Amino acid sequence: MQPQIIQLPKILDNRGNLSFIEENNHIPFTINRTYWVYDVPGGEERGSHAYKTNEEFVVALSGSFDVVVNDGQKETLYHLNRSYYGLHLPQMLWRKFQNFSTNSLVLVMSNNFYDANDYIRNFDDYLKLKNG
Ligand code: TYD
Repeated sequence: MQPQIIQLPKILDNRGNLSFIEENNHIPFTINRTYWVYDVPGGEERGSHAYKTNEEFVVALSGSFDVVVNDGQKETLYHLNRSYYGLHLPQMLWRKFQNFSTNSLVLVMSNNFYDANDYIRNFDDYLKLKNG
């Protein structure tokens, strides 16, 4: 499966806009975990790894950053800079977050609880598993 940008509902209001996410509705999985990454120093990268079974939905709640995804064949860069859309990352994709703006806030929803054994941290291991 390929990554997909998903537009979220956007309730425009002069008092301030509102967006929301419903599991198994706007995003195609049940949310078992939510985490966020913040206070990233300029020039830093995060999240350079793949997951065997974990899938994610990533939103730039504040600021902007790039998600670079390698599917074993090609690399694609997604620039996230609005809180009313996000990137669905199915399992078995190598991804990293980079190019963080000041005060960026990365919100990630996952279908799995945290499990260190679900990580693939070596890119060559990932390519072998993905491409056989
Ligand atoms: P990790 O996913 O390895 O991030 P990065 O690839 O950017 O280094 O997470 C960093 C640390 O945080 C790691 O020690 C595991 C821990 N962690 C949790 O305990 N629970 C979580 O849900 C996540 C995402 C990470």
